Amino acid sequence: MVGGGQLARMTYQAAIPLGVTLRVLSERADDGAALVSADVEIGSHTDLEALRRFAAGCDVVTFDHELAPPELLEKLAGEGHVLRPSPAAMRFAQDKLWQREQFGALGLPVPAHAVVATAEDVAAFATDHGGWPVVIKAARGGYDGRGVWVARSPEDAARVVAEGSAGGLRLFAEAMVELEREVAVLIARRPGGESVVYPVVETVQADGMCRELVSPAPIDPSVAAHARNIAERIADGIGVTGIMAVELFVAKGGDVLVNEIATRPHNSGHHTIEGCVTSQFENHVRAVLDWPLGSTAPAAPAVVTVNVVGGASGGDPRANLPRALAVPGVHVHLYGKGPRPGRKLGHVTALGEDVSEVRERADRAAAILVGEPA
Ligand SMILES: Nc1ncnc2c1ncn2[C@@H]1O[C@H](COP(=O)(O)OP(=O)(O)OP(=O)(O)O)[C@@H](O)[C@H]1O
Ligand SMILES: [Mg+2]
Repeated sequence: MVGGGQLARMTYQAAIPLGVTLRVLSERADDGAALVSADVEIGSHTDLEALRRFAAGCDVVTFDHELAPPELLEKLAGEGHVLRPSPAAMRFAQDKLWQREQFGALGLPVPAHAVVATAEDVAAFATDHGGWPVVIKAARGGYDGRGVWVARSPEDAARVVAEGSAGGLRLFAEAMVELEREVAVLIARRPGGESVVYPVVETVQADGMCRELVSPAPIDPSVAAHARNIAERIADGIGVTGIMAVELFVAKGGDVLVNEIATRPHNSGHHTIEGCVTSQFENHVRAVLDWPLGSTAPAAPAVVTVNVVGGASGGDPRANLPRALAVPGVHVHLYGKGPRPGRKLGHVTALGEDVSEVRERADRAAAILVGEPA
């Protein structure tokens, strides 16, 4: 797995009972997966020699993030390494603008958007698409809300465009969707096309970052079926292998729009570790090795995952762990990262019969971990 973060760490955990050795290409020896993996190559995903050294002897190369440059991935694939997903499928997750354009062409519902190079372009977009605010996004390199700006006025737009151009970013403008809620669909797909889809999960966002997952999402069954169908069309359309997450907007009024995809295990699937028969991490391993996929059926009527995000006080979850574990039935996952405000340090999952009772326990344990009141 290229990348040694928490996704590789949790994939490693899923690989163990299958007897699979997960080699990790990690930038630092103290990355989450490097701390636990027995087979770590230290090096950068932007360094072709490091990628080559890492890939030598791997049966399959897969990914914990989408940051490896496309041309290097093409090179590895050209040298005979098996990359799953393929560089062509990865490109969709690497470039939000490419994704928007291609999904639009596939007939998938996406927010109105246009490439912008100047503040005037953004103002013209606002005039054509219902006015301000307008969302401005970087085509590449964004995550956890970085690379996404909300411009409320022409002045805001001028500032974002100036900063973006100075940083060499390709930008596009997008209509601000009036959200009922955000949901995600995970799908695991084998090279031959066999796939399994997870129940639709609600992704509760704060400050551009996913904070909480609620499964099943509290949405109409017809909306859920539509969302799952969109995920299947995308998976087949781009020929993804492994886990793919599709982030979707449910607009006020019920329209479903595609926000973005990730072609790897994803934060919107952490509840599947205990909350589904087969976790996203296990199904990722099975899919990229072209093995039969596991059931995605829920393990309980209500599953809630709350992310443990570093608080302003900088408290270390490890110090608070015993108190959090005293909350009945919660599953705590810590990623081995040092505490920093706004950093994802872990997550807590709870299962049960009633969603509000389950959420209360998961919230309480997560709040104890970061040392802040729920
Ligand atoms: N067009 C839009 N209308 C309304 N809200 C939006 C729009 N685009 C983005 N957002 C909000 O900003 C959040 C982050 O956007 P996006 O998913 O594009 O960024 P990201 O940084 O790649 O996200 P992450 O890494 O957290 O998945 C969305 O989850 C949503 O809450
Ligand atoms: Mg997102």
